Amino acid sequence: MAVRDILILPDKRLRLESKPVAKVDAATRKLVEDMFETMYDAPGIGLAAIQIGEPKRIVTMDLAKKDEPREPQVFINPELVSTSGDKNIHEEGCLSIPEYYEEVERPARVLVRYLDLDGKLHEIEAEGLLATCIQHEIDHLNGVLFIDHISKLKRDRVIKKFTKAAKLGKPAIKSTAD
Ligand code: NI
Repeated sequence: MAVRDILILPDKRLRLESKPVAKVDAATRKLVEDMFETMYDAPGIGLAAIQIGEPKRIVTMDLAKKDEPREPQVFINPELVSTSGDKNIHEEGCLSIPEYYEEVERPARVLVRYLDLDGKLHEIEAEGLLATCIQHEIDHLNGVLFIDHISKLKRDRVIKKFTKAAKLGKPAIKSTAD
């Protein structure tokens, strides 16, 4: 297992469309282990494989509260089967856009189909934080970031800030604190 580097905005790889996992095998399980280790180390509640530079349709998640036991969840080739007409607004953040948070409106409930680590097919109905998180992560698999769901003005501002920070060779988080 290894903690891997997380790609940060404006890294172009974050815009790649990830490929489905053809077979859930030992290499898949190894990648999932790295994803969990990286996600817990960050720390974050969700991670898509592309965020560590692997364009594969794999998502790891743990929505347990800080003082609760870990609840690791893996979604391989996750798909939104259906989405509710009613919407929810949640504040979102992303390990690839550190220390930036903004409210995003998404369908309140979604039906998700995915494979587990044994390659077994599952379908779950998600609502609340799980619904927000799984939609955020599936977006990553399609090269979409949560800032694509906010106003162009705010998006341009955050992209500009991170692009400038990348050019200076330091994380954008530091430049706000300075
Ligand atoms: Ni994210």
